[in-house]
Order: sequence, then structure tokens, then C-alpha cells
Amino acid sequence: MSEQLERLRSLREEIQQGGGAKRIEKQHAKGKMTARERMEYLFDEGSFVELDAFVRHRCYNFGQEKNRPLTDGVLTGYGKVNGRLVYAYAQDFTVTGGSLGEMHAAKIVKVQELALKMGAPIVGMNDSGGARIQEAVDALSGYGRIFYQNVMASAVIPQISAIMGPCAGGAVYSPALTDFVYMVDQSSQMFITGPAVIKSVTGEEVTSEALGGAYTHNSVSGVSQFMASDDKDCIDQIKLLLSFLPSNNRELAPVYEEALNINTKLAHLNDFMPDNPNKPYDMKEIIEALVDDGFYYEYLAEYAKNIVTCFARINGQSVGIIANQPAFMAGTLDINASDKSSRFIRTCDAFNIPLVNLVDVPGFLPGTTQEYGGIIRHGAKMLYAYSEATVPKVTVILRKAYGGSYLAMCSKELGADIVMAWPNAEIAVMGPDGAANIVFKKAIQASDNPEQTRQEKIAEYKHEFATPYKAAERGYVDDVIEPQDTRIRIADALDMLLSKRESLPQKKHGNVPL
Ligand code: HXC
Repeated sequence: MSEQLERLRSLREEIQQGGGAKRIEKQHAKGKMTARERMEYLFDEGSFVELDAFVRHRCYNFGQEKNRPLTDGVLTGYGKVNGRLVYAYAQDFTVTGGSLGEMHAAKIVKVQELALKMGAPIVGMNDSGGARIQEAVDALSGYGRIFYQNVMASAVIPQISAIMGPCAGGAVYSPALTDFVYMVDQSSQMFITGPAVIKSVTGEEVTSEALGGAYTHNSVSGVSQFMASDDKDCIDQIKLLLSFLPSNNRELAPVYEEALNINTKLAHLNDFMPDNPNKPYDMKEIIEALVDDGFYYEYLAEYAKNIVTCFARINGQSVGIIANQPAFMAGTLDINASDKSSRFIRTCDAFNIPLVNLVDVPGFLPGTTQEYGGIIRHGAKMLYAYSEATVPKVTVILRKAYGGSYLAMCSKELGADIVMAWPNAEIAVMGPDGAANIVFKKAIQASDNPEQTRQEKIAEYKHEFATPYKAAERGYVDDVIEPQDTRIRIADALDMLLSKRESLPQKKHGNVPL
């Protein structure tokens, strides 16, 4: 027995060494943790259980038979994150550059299947040279199997990808199929083809950071929703995200201790809104006031800043907040804002996270760029996502809610369970200026003093229609509330909606306008 134990211990020792001291040193020199360090840091102390550490590749091309390292370049397993079961894999760049071949992929697929069966989240930490070149089509097949599992698990268990090194070629599509993509600033890249190929094909010169770095994908492409300053920050943020999510689609979103100050009125909100309805303000100040401990976790913080999407807690209940941002492009809805919020709404709905919608929207952004880019199709995604969402939906109209964008921000018609409005809210087909110009066109033209008449008509229109009371008269708004009561009233609505049950008509799947 002692001989067998000796062999086991020696193999385990080899497994712990990864790609060896030199390569580990190189990894550290780049400011990166090793795959094993990442796993240890992700899981609660001592809870990581490794699977398939003895796996080796079975490729005999190009002398590969002489180099068959244990683990095959990826660590897989499970453990606890803040006491909850989570599966994970971490590609080990120190072993064959974390490149993906048949067995490497098989290990990932195994934990994907286990996570789905057990109804637990899965975290994938990517740091890889991509398809293992020597394994040719076996490597491609491996990616295909991973993509398929990503889709099978979609909206069943939370799937989180962390990009912590290179991620190139088709490899980018597994993260893209998951719910959340994190990127580490300065040490991760995602692209279909790298700078060298781009230069040879199109002549365009670009650095890999500018092409596919963390900031690019968080602010320009929207491929990644979260950015981290280093590996530890990335893993800390993933743990934070998990705290808002249930383990699977059959569980309710986590509820934490009720807030002690939930009945405190927010007196400053009564005076918050500027007198001039066209004056911008920072919506984040309102969000901060409404959520527990003033803390919220932004999703796509740097992308489409005209809409804010974030996770937070209100009286202990995890919520997803979608809020127009008047401080950026006057809070109009454009293509990117529509994409961003639709994806966020569907993610929250998939994981039973109630939606809180804070509305101050003057409309969809006009112009040829938007029209040619398909704002109709993209804007339709919001209507679709809100209508299809069966989670509790609470809407508060803070100021403007005009035209199609009033509907697109989850009006009663799109299934909002509770709609509240502040007394200064303006709910109308369009703003008073535009409306008066059209409705009172003849009167203005016939007037001796057209500008004075125009101003009078604007005031008349404003008084009559740009209020929440027309909408409240017909029940489109359930209640007009004092701003200082907003937090209490949202918490109350969420509490009332806890037992909400709603189902959609039977169908194979919806046909969202992609
Ligand atoms: C096999 C690979 C590899 C790969 C890296 N290695 N990428 N082995 N297949 N794809 C190995 C190296 O040979 C080296 O082995 C070790 O990993 C570390 O690589 P280095 O080049 O020394 O590291 P570094 O200088 O940091 O450069 C990292 C890199 C570079 C930029 C990622 O290795 C690189 O360009 N690799 C190729 C990337 C690529 O073109 N991949 C295919 C993408 S297409 P030793 O033994 O020396 O330590 C793709 C299609 C997927 O993935 C399609 C899915 C549908």
C-alpha cells in the first residue's frame, strides 16, 4: 500500500506544481494569479474539491505524446462561496498556455453538466491561448460542446465568465453565451482576430488593448458587463454578484435582513427635482437614496450611460433597477440603452429578481444614425423584455414619461404590477413644447403675437396634460406619491408582490426581435 500511496502523493505533488516554478513566476510577473490561486480565492477556505486532476490529453500529433501534463491545462471542481454550492473551472496558462483540446474541454463540460444537474451557479475563469493547435478539429469540437452546454444551462443556472488573460478566436463565444462577463483591466483581451490578422487583412493598426481590452468591451462593445482592477478584485466582484442571485431559476432571489431604517422618510427627495423640467440631475443620487445602505452594483456601468442598470437590495430584497439617466443624453433611449436594459431585464427575470423601474425619459433618440441602426428593432426588445417578464415589476415615474418611451420603461400595459408617480410627473405623448406647436398650430399662426400665444398654449397644455393625474384618473398610475415616501412605497409593493404568480402562454420559445 505504501508504494501506491507514494505514487498518489507524488502525482498530487505534480498536480500542485502546475506548469512549474518558471511559468508560475512568469504568470505572477504579469500581475496574474495562477489557476489554482484563483480557485482557492474564489471558494470558501478549504472547500474547493478538485475533479479530474489526473486527466491528460491523448493527442499524438507533433510530438505531443512526449508532453502530457496532468490537469491538461484546466482546473475544474466545486466548493462553497459564502456557504453556497458553486461550480468553477480555471484555465491554467502555465500548462500548455491554457490551450483547449479534447480532454481539457471534456473537463469543462463535465462541471457544466454537474452544475446544471445540481442547479448551482458556474464560474469560468478564462486564461488561454485558445484552441490547442496540435489537436486540430478535436479542439474545435471541444469548444462546440462547451457552447452547447452554455445554451442548455442558459436561464437555468447563473453562468459567470471571468476573462483573466487572452481569450481569442471562437473561444470568446463561450463567455458571450453566459449571463455575465468580467474582464480584468490591462491583463485580459477578447477578440475574434488579433491585431496582426487585422493588419494583414484590412491594413488597420490597433493595439490588442484598444481592440479587445477590458475598457473597450465595457464601454464600446458592451460584450463585458463588469471590469476589475486585478484578479482579486474580479473574484471579489463575482462573489458580490452571486450574493444577488439565486442558485437557479427555481429559487427566489436572495432576501437579506430587513433594513432598520425602512420607514424613514427621505425628506430631501421632496425638494430634489429641479424646477426646470429640462435641467439634468444625476439619477444615481436617487438610486442611492432608495436602496439599502445606499449600495448598488452597476451592470454595464460604462456603456450606454443614458440608462442605469444595477443590482441592489430594498428592505433586504434583491432587486434589479433600470433607471433613465437625465445627466447623460437627457436620459433618451437609444440603440445601446435598449440593448443594455433588455438584456438586464431578461437576466433578472430568468433569475426571479424583481424589477424596479425609475422613469424620467423624454423619448427615443431621433436621427438617421438611430433609424439606420435599427432603433425600431432594438427598442422593441425593451417592450418585449418587460412584457415577457413575470417577476414583480414596480415602476415609479419621477418626471418625464413621454410617448413610446413611457411604454418602454414598463408602463401598466406592459405588465407593471404597481405604477407610482411623483406629483411633478409629466405623462404625455410628447413634451409640452412639441405638443403645443402641433395642437395649437392654427391658433399660434393666427395670433398677433405668435410667440406669446405659443407660450400661453404650452402653459395651458402643461397644466392640463403634463401631470400624473390624467394617467391616474384612468388607473394607468396606481398612486401619486410624495417623493419622500418612495423607498417605503417600493418596499411595500415588493412585499405585497412576493406571492406573485404569472405564467406565459405555452410556446417553444419566444421570438424576441434580436
Ligand atoms: C497550443 C499553445 C497555444 C495554442 C499558447 N500555447 N497558445 N499551445 N495551442 N493555441 C503554448 C505555447 O506554445 C507555450 O508553450 C505556452 O502555451 C505559453 O505561450 P507563449 O506564447 O510562450 O506565451 P505568451 O508569450 O504570453 O503569448 C500568449 C499568446 C500566444 C498571445 C496567447 O501564445 C499566442 O498567440 N498563442 C496562439 C493564439 C492563437 O492563435 N490561438 C488560436 C486562436 S483560434 P511552452 O511549452 O513554450 O510553454 C481559436 C479558434 C477557436 O482558438 C475556435 C472555437 C470555435
